[in-house]
Amino acid sequence: MADESGFQLKGSAPERYEQYAAPFMAPFVDAVLDAVDLFPGATVLDLACGTGFAARAAAARVGPAGRISAADVNEGMLRVAAAHAPRLYPDIEFTTAPADKLPYPDATFDAVVCQQGVQFFPDLDAALAETARVTREGGRFAATAWADRNLLPYFVAQYEAIKEYGGREIATSYEAAFSGTAARLTTALRAAGFHDVTAHEVTFGITLPPLADYARNQLSSLSWGQEIVDNAGQDALVQAGHAIHTHLADRTAPDGSATLPFTANLVTAVR
Ligand SMILES: C[S@@+](CC[C@H](N)C(=O)[O-])C[C@H]1O[C@@H](n2cnc3c(N)ncnc32)[C@H](O)[C@@H]1O
Repeated sequence: MADESGFQLKGSAPERYEQYAAPFMAPFVDAVLDAVDLFPGATVLDLACGTGFAARAAAARVGPAGRISAADVNEGMLRVAAAHAPRLYPDIEFTTAPADKLPYPDATFDAVVCQQGVQFFPDLDAALAETARVTREGGRFAATAWADRNLLPYFVAQYEAIKEYGGREIATSYEAAFSGTAARLTTALRAAGFHDVTAHEVTFGITLPPLADYARNQLSSLSWGQEIVDNAGQDALVQAGHAIHTHLADRTAPDGSATLPFTANLVTAVR
């Protein structure tokens, strides 16, 4: 297993992540928050919050009496998250911290959510043990992680393009995005002391903006897109974006958009 946190963006990539991940993160944010039964006044942690999609949605749900904390290891992500945080509802407290060393007292949270983060933790068991520590007894945990890549046509196209224009090593590191299997996550949650652990697949049909530009821009907001640019230059990224678009040509509408299924594993547990 890698010993470094995965999905580390740099430079202006976090701002692009906020823009280009939004279309396919939005429905999963609702699913992960529905799974933890939020109530007005609840205390919530968005773990590996990135640019804060789940934290912002949670703030709207718990209202002014609630408290939202959001932690991520990447300071660039947190800067964008803070810039996009609402000025109404409870303040969101953003903190730079790795998932396995959280700066919160025991039993702080009624709910912890983690959207597309668990598969990138270098030590999943340690991260979930730490999550269990900061969740109050009876508190809820829910996480999403992408399902098998073959269920996700957009990511199949992206994988092929990364392999062709980035090379096998980058394509292999892309596999981490799909390593949050139900078996791996449920086993780790039970070992961490959670109970009533469940897992099921959630699928949404999501309309992506015209792929001619979107495929390139979205790839540029991923760590693997950055690696393609670092290793092979901007032109390789442009070609990779074009390859994704071409791969999905059959599924593209006349206006260039594409409505595609996205499937994630949704795991839930009670502390
Ligand atoms: C795909 S992004 C998901 C971000 C956000 N949760 C969302 O819904 O868009 C993965 C995030 O996991 C974070 N991450 C990776 N390893 C981490 C670790 N060990 N501790 C905390 N965050 C981590 C990355 O910095 C990145 O922000």
